[in-house]
Amino acid sequence: MLKFIHITDTHLVGQGQALYGTDPAWRLRACVADIIATQADAEFCVITGDLADRGGKATYELLRDILRPLPMPVHLLLGNHDSREDLRAVFAQAFDDGNGFVQGRVETRMGDFLMLDTLEPMKHHGAFCERRAAWLARELAASGTRPVYLCQHHPPFPVGISGDDRLSLLDTGPFERAIAPHRARIRHMFFGHIHRPISGSWRGMPFSTLFGTNHQTALELAPYLSVEKSLAEPDDTVWGSPEAPHYGVVLVTEELVVVHQRSFLAGPERFPL
Ligand SMILES: [Fe+2]
Repeated sequence: MLKFIHITDTHLVGQGQALYGTDPAWRLRACVADIIATQADAEFCVITGDLADRGGKATYELLRDILRPLPMPVHLLLGNHDSREDLRAVFAQAFDDGNGFVQGRVETRMGDFLMLDTLEPMKHHGAFCERRAAWLARELAASGTRPVYLCQHHPPFPVGISGDDRLSLLDTGPFERAIAPHRARIRHMFFGHIHRPISGSWRGMPFSTLFGTNHQTALELAPYLSVEKSLAEPDDTVWGSPEAPHYGVVLVTEELVVVHQRSFLAGPERFPL
């Protein structure tokens, strides 16, 4: 079995600073402490973007300091709130696909994890250009017949929250063309961006996403499930929510992908039922 941790949307600001009434650094430290206390045997951790709320080298230095106690490798992906340059200034070992995008492959005994970069600088929607798609197509071809898992910040489909759906991955053509020949091998898509626990399937491919570690999006559903309709909607308000955060604990075997959600503010206490 492969066990790994999925964290998303940490939105760090400065040490001790609040964002929407809570302290992202304090909460991420609590998340890290809970992982060490309860899930230290996980083989790696992936954070699917929005690491920093407004980029900034000092914020990535804070992220590095908070993550340092984790005993497993941590793979960092970019979200719309991040800065490629500031991330690289602090994490020299960050993924690089050869074109400067933060993309890479992590090989495991359960298949290949392809880490994607959907950041479009100065925009909140996601992008996946032909150059990124060409890298993805090459990596998918190189993975042969092995199972594949995709990790990225922006989902390439709507989830029914209108203000969020207009900020999903737009112009999905290059992405869709790259994965089309390999869809049957894509066992799961892990993404962030939405700040809500959501799971389902897209064209037969299972997906999941999670609450962020600081603040959440309210479950304010639009009466449709369409990026195009969301883009045409005059009200682009995204409503926040104070729901408690969590992180994902993912178990993978040849037969199963199981995603658990672990609340980390409740502490490690347990009792017999
Ligand atoms: Fe976010």
